[in-house]
Amino acid sequence: MPVIHILNGPNLNLLGTREPATYGSCTLADIEARLREIADARGATIDFRQSNHEGDLVTWIQEAGAAGEPVILNAGAYTHTSIAIHDAIRGAKAHVIEVHLSNVHARESFRHQSFIAPVAAGVILGFGALSYELALEAVLADAQQKKS
Ligand code: DQA
Repeated sequence: MPVIHILNGPNLNLLGTREPATYGSCTLADIEARLREIADARGATIDFRQSNHEGDLVTWIQEAGAAGEPVILNAGAYTHTSIAIHDAIRGAKAHVIEVHLSNVHARESFRHQSFIAPVAAGVILGFGALSYELALEAVLADAQQKKS
């Protein structure tokens, strides 16, 4: 099974204390621990990262695409602004599932547009930390299907 990259963008390092009414009380470390538990139980390996810098996300997406390894991506606010991330996914042919903790469509209108969704395999949003688990399930199911 390929390595599954779970990439997190700006301000997600603040989870736990950042707007808990919107993002819940889990920290990013809590989310990582839960995903590692699920991955371990299923014999999968995850690579979990966070950066506040757009270029880091671009580089990591390019690397995952080149390796043919799937990506679960919460690009934070870059979701709504980053043509560079859109181009990286498209250019590197990266298999990306877009995730968000919050239901961005029920929030400010500037969050309604995603530059990632048109180049993503799928989008999961609005379920808090569970959004990540659902995305991991989707990647694992896809890997299983490709194996059989
Ligand atoms: C977010 C939603 C974005 O609009 C916001 O900028 C974030 C977090 C989410 O997970 O709900 O940083 O990606």
